[in-house]
Amino acid sequence: MVIRLGSGLDAAADPRLADYVRLRDVDLRKSLESEHGLFLAEGEKVITRAVGAGYPVRSVLTTEKWLGALLPIVGDAPVFVVGDAAMEGVTGFPVHRGALASMARLPLPPVGKILDGARRILVLEDLVDHGNVGSIFRCAAALGVDAVILSPRCADPLYRRSVKVSMGAVFAVPYARMDDWHDGLAEVRDAGHRVLALTPDQAATPLDRARLGERTALLLGSEGDGLSSRWLREADERVCIPMSAQAMSLGVDSLNVVAAAAIACHLFIRT
Ligand SMILES: C[S@@+](CC[C@H](N)C(=O)[O-])C[C@H]1O[C@@H](n2cnc3c(N)ncnc32)[C@H](O)[C@@H]1O
Repeated sequence: MVIRLGSGLDAAADPRLADYVRLRDVDLRKSLESEHGLFLAEGEKVITRAVGAGYPVRSVLTTEKWLGALLPIVGDAPVFVVGDAAMEGVTGFPVHRGALASMARLPLPPVGKILDGARRILVLEDLVDHGNVGSIFRCAAALGVDAVILSPRCADPLYRRSVKVSMGAVFAVPYARMDDWHDGLAEVRDAGHRVLALTPDQAATPLDRARLGERTALLLGSEGDGLSSRWLREADERVCIPMSAQAMSLGVDSLNVVAAAAIACHLFIRT
């Protein structure tokens, strides 16, 4: 059902567009999206991937330009068509890809179900940056990772920026969220995974000498503090990506977590 909203209308105040308001207000978006069980997909390609992964479309907000491409993929959901100015008025910024879909979330599987049959997994502890989470999912999809497990406080893979940066890989790589940080790793180990903690500490085992198991979990820590001491202690082995001798003198004590993930996941492709 296509609904064209007139240019005189105050689109930002239209209750039918409430799913799309103030996309750069992270706190507002987090509470709105969890309260209504929704997330936003941006751009035709990502919307197509979300629909293909089975997420129901609640509604679409688009400019005229993208209407023809979207109509065949979004089923019976209401499609609101607005001009560029109204799009910016509602969302708070110019949406370059010109199309947004509000999608209903699906219940996440339990961690045990995700671990079942997964040989190569990533476990993310308390990452805060949605872009980093999305980029890591993209690495995971590209480099042979079977699944991702999130600590209870880790940033949301379905937040708009994560979805966008991942180019839809968040729909392709299975993931689950732990209920319990304290004992969360025990479940991973009980499923038969050798647990490798990735740390910038250059005294740890260099990556190319790390022993992988029949099943292996790579732990990645948060952008600021890195892995907690508990998770470092609980791992079977601490593993570092060797950095150059000048890194410290240049004020660099670690890699960005996405770069570390990409280098470490490359191990998976070779095994
Ligand atoms: C920005 S770093 C955190 C830096 C933090 N000061 C620390 O000491 O861990 C974020 C995560 O990226 C991974 N990482 C960064 N550099 C790494 C390296 N050289 N080797 C292995 N993992 C690394 C680790 O998992 C780390 O927890």
